[in-house]
Amino acid sequence: MTPRSDAGNGAGRSLELDRVTQRYPSSTNDTTEFVAMQDISLEIPAGQFVSVVGPTGCGKSTMLSAISGLRPASDGQVRIGGEVVTGIRSDVGFIFQQDALLPWRTALQNVELSLRFRGRPKSESRERAREWLARVGLLDFADRYPHQLSGGMRKRVAVASTLVYEPDILLMDEPFSALDIQTRTLMENDLLHVWDEAGKNTVLFVTHDLEEAIGMSDRILVLTASPGRLLGDYKIDLPRPRDLLEVKMTEEFTELYRAIWKDLEGEVLAANKLRIPDAVGN
Ligand SMILES: Nc1ncnc2c1ncn2[C@@H]1O[C@H](COP(=O)(O)OP(=O)(O)OP(=O)(O)O)[C@@H](O)[C@H]1O
Ligand SMILES: [Mg+2]
Repeated sequence: MTPRSDAGNGAGRSLELDRVTQRYPSSTNDTTEFVAMQDISLEIPAGQFVSVVGPTGCGKSTMLSAISGLRPASDGQVRIGGEVVTGIRSDVGFIFQQDALLPWRTALQNVELSLRFRGRPKSESRERAREWLARVGLLDFADRYPHQLSGGMRKRVAVASTLVYEPDILLMDEPFSALDIQTRTLMENDLLHVWDEAGKNTVLFVTHDLEEAIGMSDRILVLTASPGRLLGDYKIDLPRPRDLLEVKMTEEFTELYRAIWKDLEGEVLAANKLRIPDAVGN
């Protein structure tokens, strides 16, 4: 079968947002519109790992939907490798917060189906699925169904199911937030490892956790409270490969945390309609 023109090879492509705005209808019986994300422009070079942080409701998931083509932008353009995004593309992978595995399929079948859906032959799909389950440390659990796996294991299967088809752009929407802290740290380290091994696709990683964002990324984008606009753009030049536990102990990490939190704090307070106290007791 001939690969689709927008099929990925996992090597990463550039991503550009050019004055992207997303509006939603305010309600079903109302003609007014609500601006969820406003006038965002940015350029992400191929292979960069970028985290997006911002208060709840600021439009982070909206931004990922516009990039994936699930809900194209109301205004402006999203371009992948210079091509304008007009609909869902097969070179973009999306990992959601909730499990997106098929409960009636085993771990192996879930990963395999990702390739079968994209028209790859059965034997190749089976082989590649086994290879990816091994990479995420789950080959011994290949025949288990999702309900027989722990939350962390299911997340690993989801990562394998997405990376197996080599998306050039990888979008992740709070993928680890439902996991306990130890499993989460393991998953973050593992993700960095497989991302590096697989040739570094371009990643946009949404998280509420600033420590996670700094630990994982080359760059962090801070969005304002709703409507989300670009407030800060920070370069994270901590050396790679990184061990997340070690990196979090360094002085550079603490300095970055302080600087970015300064931007973020005001937006979190604004989103929650709070204010920074002038002094203790105020
Ligand atoms: N399909 C939709 N129709 C109408 N409004 C929507 C729709 N999707 C999102 N919104 C609104 O757009 C705003 C941004 O939502 P979005 O889910 O992008 O925020 P978020 O930054 O991902 O928040 P969180 O951190 O809580 O996940 C919110 O006010 C939300 O209610
Ligand atoms: Mg969201």
